[in-house]
Amino acid sequence: MMDRISQRLSRQRIAHFYDGWLQRSYVHGKLASDPVYAATAEAIDGTALPLLDIGCGIGLLGLYLHTRGTLPRYLGLDHDERKIDAGMIAVRRAGLERVMELRTADAAAMPPVQGHVALLDMLHYLPQEAQQSLLEASVQHLAPAGVLVIRSVLLDSSWRFHATRAEEVWLRLSRRIRGGAQHYPKAAELRRPLEAAGLSVTIEPLFGSTPFNSYLIVARRRN
Ligand SMILES: C[S@@+](CC[C@H](N)C(=O)[O-])C[C@H]1O[C@@H](n2cnc3c(N)ncnc32)[C@H](O)[C@@H]1O
Repeated sequence: MMDRISQRLSRQRIAHFYDGWLQRSYVHGKLASDPVYAATAEAIDGTALPLLDIGCGIGLLGLYLHTRGTLPRYLGLDHDERKIDAGMIAVRRAGLERVMELRTADAAAMPPVQGHVALLDMLHYLPQEAQQSLLEASVQHLAPAGVLVIRSVLLDSSWRFHATRAEEVWLRLSRRIRGGAQHYPKAAELRRPLEAAGLSVTIEPLFGSTPFNSYLIVARRRN
């Protein structure tokens, strides 16, 4: 466990790999307020396997895990070229080209890597069928000791869900996310195919300091 001072220094260090004041402030704020990266590190629990990060954005998860010393290899895919370019600048500044690779690609183009798989805050940007296909493909890319870590908004009747949907309208209108939200899954839609594939699944709230309806879903092979 890192103490508060080391956590702060590590946030500053990661932020400085990115370009420009705006992006650095975003990275620093995101790492300080969003527990998803620490939760992913905890879920994979030091198991040193390659990590496939689908919908990786600017590759923050990779830089975070590398700082925690739990990353032999990271491959991130995102269909937004601007984010991949921004992420690759950070990867080069950090001198991590041998460990981290970011590719502009659709989620459906998963490379033949076996290890851990992360799908953080990205499933709802796919239509329902594509979500199910991506879950199936993710299971196939898990190494025997690999962990599938998902964070997703879940459809329910909570005020948090409505707050999330309102934010997604803004994200689509501001063109921050190409295409915008397509389908909000219910918990059972994610749990069912993973359990059918023989994985044990836990689903827990992971709101952090946000008003959003975010859940952490961790799936691994039963022993
Ligand atoms: C909210 S961001 C999350 C970024 C990153 N996973 C994180 O948590 O730091 C969602 C990302 O999913 C990407 N995305 C959405 N649909 C995608 C698709 N079909 N293929 C690849 N990337 C996709 C978006 O471009 C965006 O960068």
